Amino acid sequence: MATSSPTRFVIFPAILFLIVLIPLYLSPINRNQNILPHLLPTHSNLSETTHQTLQTSSSPSLLPKNDSADGVPSTSTDGARATNEIRKRFREKMSHVERIEEGLARARAAIRRAIRTRNYTSEKDEAFIPRGDVYRNPYAFHQSHIEMEKRFKIWAYREGDQPLMHDGPSNDIYAIEGQFMDEIESGKSHFLARHPDEANAFYIPMSLARIVHFIYEPPHYYGKWIPRLVTDYINFVADKYPYWNRSKGADHFLVSCHDWAPDVSALKPDLYKHFIRALCNANTSERFHPIRDISIPEINIPRGKLGPPHLDQPPNKRPILAFFAGGAHGYVRSVLFKYWKEKDDEVQVFERLPRNRNYSKSMGDSKFCLCPSGYEVASPRIVEAIAAGCVPMIICDHYSLPFSDVLDWSKFSIYITSDKIPEIKKILKAVPTETYLEMQKRVKQVQRHFAINRPAKPYDMLHMILHSVWLRRLNVRLPS
Ligand SMILES: *[C@@H]1O[C@H](CO)[C@@H](O)[C@H](O)[C@H]1NC(C)=O
Ligand SMILES: *[C@@H]1O[C@H](CO)[C@@H](O)[C@H](O)[C@H]1NC(C)=O
Ligand SMILES: *[C@@H]1O[C@H](CO)[C@@H](O)[C@H](O)[C@H]1NC(C)=O
Ligand SMILES: *[C@@H]1O[C@H](CO)[C@@H](O)[C@H](O)[C@H]1NC(C)=O
Ligand SMILES: *[C@@H]1O[C@H](CO)[C@@H](O)[C@H](O)[C@H]1NC(C)=O
Ligand SMILES: *[C@@H]1O[C@H](CO)[C@@H](O)[C@H](O)[C@H]1NC(C)=O
Repeated sequence: MATSSPTRFVIFPAILFLIVLIPLYLSPINRNQNILPHLLPTHSNLSETTHQTLQTSSSPSLLPKNDSADGVPSTSTDGARATNEIRKRFREKMSHVERIEEGLARARAAIRRAIRTRNYTSEKDEAFIPRGDVYRNPYAFHQSHIEMEKRFKIWAYREGDQPLMHDGPSNDIYAIEGQFMDEIESGKSHFLARHPDEANAFYIPMSLARIVHFIYEPPHYYGKWIPRLVTDYINFVADKYPYWNRSKGADHFLVSCHDWAPDVSALKPDLYKHFIRALCNANTSERFHPIRDISIPEINIPRGKLGPPHLDQPPNKRPILAFFAGGAHGYVRSVLFKYWKEKDDEVQVFERLPRNRNYSKSMGDSKFCLCPSGYEVASPRIVEAIAAGCVPMIICDHYSLPFSDVLDWSKFSIYITSDKIPEIKKILKAVPTETYLEMQKRVKQVQRHFAINRPAKPYDMLHMILHSVWLRRLNVRLPS
């Protein structure tokens, strides 16, 4: 396989985005919201654009002529039986890529129908049905998750040896790397493909936190070691198998929570142009692209546990207005400390929590939990706050919030930039009680999306990460 010409290559970022994200997130219920405004210049032109791209995205040449627009076989009539027969014969003749793309086309069709009908289609009983304001479009998300369960298959490359490969931390602040890797690589996940030909996404099983642990020698900067290792690995599998080249990496992904993870693509930006990086360090002013990349939550996992404690104080048993305790890491916190450190009874900010105070309990006793950036944009406090039923006040500049393809953070958190730090108390006091109570209820509603289960469960954090990859894969069509 030589290089494919740019015209044959079907991935154009603007189109990618329109194919899925518009139909998914700009459904009637969300039309008035200012969703992803940097990508969508005006709302008025949307319907036309959507219509056109939808036509290009469903692939008439791949589908049997009589395939219903919804991609769901009807089962009762003779005509339908004939159609199924045609489809069966057709499928036998399809290549692997065509078969995969046909499945994805059906998934897109089902999602579009769910948006239209405001309901879902599923072959099994749905234990959980996402509904409510916390979702940008609950119908689209629900159907997309159903389709993912049904069709998503991931190949984890097997090349490489431990400890640099196939191994990651499952505790502390980079734990998500090891938890995700173990979930996929343990062989128990039903998302794991049996053969790469059957996969619609490819996982690069490297934990950058682990690699840094083994090769970084303070005080020297790690230099170009990490990007080189990852790039070597990718070149190796791209040489050995056809999968990387056929998509230029657009169906390949890596999951990393390490601060330096965004640097993997720094040495060879062209190689990584379409590669999906799932990162905690989702700093949009450091080349994080929310359409291609995925913002994943940072979660601090204590030993022997799967996350921070879940606390359930009702809103009227939360005497503290706002709480934060943590190290003086990074410029946002230095501003926070300048204005609020041990200065106010209602906005309680500590660098060191007094001995007689319990950190988790304090979060559970607070109405709002301050979640300022540390050395990088993400902070494990967001997940801690959500687990504690405490409405997060996120204090960040240039942060693309986790899972924002699906979740509407404005409904269950408050986001301020660092220049608003002096006004924290004023802003929180201005939140009407009714609004606060709604927000707090919604925090509890999103808890399941920020919880880790092993094995993973539908709609939990690991599934949300997978779903983010799935959505991006839905945006891409491979040439057959
Ligand atoms: C939207 O429509 C207006 C008026 O027709 C036009 O000037 C503008 O360029 C359009 N924007 C896009 C993104 O097509
Ligand atoms: C297939 O579609 C054609 C027209 O496109 C129609 O005449 C025919 O009856 C359809 N067959 C079935 C089995 O639905
Ligand atoms: C939504 O779909 C489910 C399953 O297909 C069905 O049981 C339910 O009646 C539908 N609800 C509405 C309001 O159509
Ligand atoms: C993929 O492309 C690279 C660079 O063009 C080339 O070196 C490699 O051999 C190709 N891989 C395959 C499997 O053909
Ligand atoms: C701190 O508070 C949490 C939540 O109330 C509780 O589970 C934990 O045992 C407490 N820790 C200590 C050291 O008291
Ligand atoms: C995000 O990136 C910008 C640009 O490099 C940088 O100035 C800023 O410090 C970063 N944010 C954090 C919290 O590290």
